[in-house]
Amino acid sequence: MEPELGDNLVALNMIRDLEVVDGRASLTLMLTTPACPYIDELVEQIRGAVLTVEGVSSVDVMVASNIPANPQLYGKNGLLIKNLIAISSGKGGVGKSTVAVNIAVTLAASGASVGLLDADITGPNLPLLMGLEGKRPITGMNKLQPLESYGVRVISMGFLMDPDRAVIWRGPMIHGAVRQLFTDVNWGELDYLIVDLPPGTGDAQLTMAQTVPVSGAIIVTQPMQLAVGDALRGVAMFREVNVPLLGIVENMSGEFFGEGGGAKLAEQQNIPFLGAVPLDSKVRVGGDAGQPIVIADPDSPAAVALRAIAGMVAIRLSKMALDQEGDDIPITVIE
Ligand SMILES: Nc1ncnc2c1ncn2[C@@H]1O[C@H](COP(=O)(O)OP(=O)(O)O)[C@@H](O)[C@H]1O
Ligand SMILES: [Mg+2]
Repeated sequence: MEPELGDNLVALNMIRDLEVVDGRASLTLMLTTPACPYIDELVEQIRGAVLTVEGVSSVDVMVASNIPANPQLYGKNGLLIKNLIAISSGKGGVGKSTVAVNIAVTLAASGASVGLLDADITGPNLPLLMGLEGKRPITGMNKLQPLESYGVRVISMGFLMDPDRAVIWRGPMIHGAVRQLFTDVNWGELDYLIVDLPPGTGDAQLTMAQTVPVSGAIIVTQPMQLAVGDALRGVAMFREVNVPLLGIVENMSGEFFGEGGGAKLAEQQNIPFLGAVPLDSKVRVGGDAGQPIVIADPDSPAAVALRAIAGMVAIRLSKMALDQEGDDIPITVIE
């Protein structure tokens, strides 16, 4: 059984190239995302099931993946992006950029092609968090070439601005800038584009919702009531513009800020709760040094939580894309 898609692997067409030669079975498990959190579990179940078949003495399971594309997004505006994830928060400083960066790096490490777009035009953080500060992207054929770090293609207004000069942006300029970061960048083919939005519910958020079909939004909140109230406004905004909510992440969970506010909000709003990331100074130290925690200290509780969140996000997106395609094509092959 595929726990998220709620059907068996054969019915979902996820078992391929099945062969039995002299009692030795071999097959490929075709996943909907390489970041699937249940790979080991599924392989074990397959082994168990195949070995009960009479005459089979051994089984070889290969694992591959084919990420379904959001049909409303793929090919739109000339962009070959299969899934677009917006990361948002009600207020600043809750760890939105940190969550965006660690999800991006985790998905890329699983083998997916991943882009990271810094839509925080007036306060771009991604150059620092991705270890790309001071770098400049090259332009070619009228398009900007993203910079690459930890296997992720990154674009940020921070690459184009003088860090010592404050730039005053008015609404229409922000609108134009965000649009260009999507359409005037040579993203190539992407399984996932992760967009780090500025905090709140302003121009950049609306531009994005109007420019590209967002597959889903994640709302990051701190545990305490003050932050949760702001997060609720974010939930309302995405509902208004018909962007599906992938779920809520509680960040900086623990003794200092408390815990449980994110899960409670998720329950009240009937949105999935994606997980809680503990408050841990190593997250900040790694961020300041351009090393996301999933790289700097992969076994730390914060890194473990962030990886689990990335897996949940990937699997939920697959499910949403498959649901939109209709039921006769369980897996699209876009090569
Ligand atoms: N779980 C955490 N534990 C400790 N520090 C964190 C955690 N998450 C984020 N931080 C730190 O908090 C600050 C704000 O995080 P950031 O991701 O920039 O927030 P936002 O993008 O929401 O403004 C950064 O210095 C970051 O390193
Ligand atoms: Mg930020």
